[in-house]
Amino acid sequence: MAKLSAFIVDNDENTREIIKNLIQEVENVEIADVFNTISDAYNEILKEKPNFVFVSTVNNSQDVFGLIEKITLVNNKIKFIVMASSYDTNSVIKAMRAGAREFLPKPLIKEDFIKTVNRLKEQFSGNDSNTNCKIITTFSNKGGIGKTSIATNLALEIANITKEKVAIVDMNFQLGDVATFLDIKPSFDISYVVKNIDGTDNNFLESTLDKYKDTSLYVLADPPYMEQAKDITPEQITKLFDELRKSFSYVIVDTSNVFDGKTITVLDNTDFIMLVTIVNLPAIRNCQRCLDVFERLGYSKDKSKIVINRYMENDEVTVEDVENTLNKKVYWKIPNNYFTIMSSINKGLPVEYINPSSNIAQSFRELATVLSDNIYKQKIAQKIERNPLINFKSLMG
Ligand SMILES: Nc1ncnc2c1ncn2[C@@H]1O[C@H](COP(=O)(O)OP(=O)(O)O)[C@@H](O)[C@H]1O
Ligand SMILES: [Mg+2]
Repeated sequence: MAKLSAFIVDNDENTREIIKNLIQEVENVEIADVFNTISDAYNEILKEKPNFVFVSTVNNSQDVFGLIEKITLVNNKIKFIVMASSYDTNSVIKAMRAGAREFLPKPLIKEDFIKTVNRLKEQFSGNDSNTNCKIITTFSNKGGIGKTSIATNLALEIANITKEKVAIVDMNFQLGDVATFLDIKPSFDISYVVKNIDGTDNNFLESTLDKYKDTSLYVLADPPYMEQAKDITPEQITKLFDELRKSFSYVIVDTSNVFDGKTITVLDNTDFIMLVTIVNLPAIRNCQRCLDVFERLGYSKDKSKIVINRYMENDEVTVEDVENTLNKKVYWKIPNNYFTIMSSINKGLPVEYINPSSNIAQSFRELATVLSDNIYKQKIAQKIERNPLINFKSLMG
């Protein structure tokens, strides 16, 4: 494999030397150029297209984030690693949103640095075992509750907000309608994919899934004939998730409402279950049953999040009632907006395209922001925890 190139953007001589020394510990990566500021480096980065840019930010400079975003829009293969000695969690999130792929607290820690670069390196060779991928599944043991509406709209918003690669996978094998909700004619479906995936072709999923419009969202539809779904095994589903994790940062899964072997395999592989309910007693009782099943399956309490759909302020049953009955906090409320949702489903377009200022589009955007923020925050916290030189509490407070 050809050597990978890296730029250093830091006006501190000392840090530059440290990075130069550390990079020698990473096989196959060399420093191609050094700059003081990102504006100095801007044209060269676009021209030379280095594989990595190590860039320091002082006082979370908006300039740095703005330029990273500008470059990433043109070339999202360049991996920015943002470094900072003083920062807060929100500014790290801003850097990630701008397109930075990694964040390293200063002073740099040798092991962390090497590990981070090696992991990013794998993305160039395609052997990336993306441990950062999060799988989010919408579930309910009732139909018609809003699972597909939430899965499709949430997936689009996460793609828009994070600009990372997001897959929406229809695992409602018998009655899937993700493709209908997004009005796409899928080139391949999930039964084709599970039969042909062998883990050797790194571009297999990217070339098989349908890219949605001008976004970073990719769609994997259910099989066109119900019989084809019968042949899909839980092992194949797990294998598919393993492969999806390598190529995508987020995988949103829409499920059926039966607790069969396939659905349980999906839930086992899931990081966050969006347990969807509406505010009426039968639905809440069903929700309680699902939580009981999750407990028996050994899932942690944090794994499932209660999402109330079709929420109305003046409902007879209140959110408190729901929380008391379920003995669990409500994670999110999606407003009732029959008009916008129906128009969205009939036109096969997410609500963002129907009416971006509607309460429901706003709610999906905010949910996507909160979810992806929490995921970034977990990542930052893990990093900071590993860095004994940084006072963890003072940063997260
Ligand atoms: N937030 C909402 N406000 C109003 N109606 C909704 C909302 N979400 C879903 N619906 C209605 O519920 C129906 C079922 O939604 P869908 O997403 O297909 O549910 P599921 O996938 O759980 O079967 C939709 O056709 C729509 O009419
Ligand atoms: Mg559905």
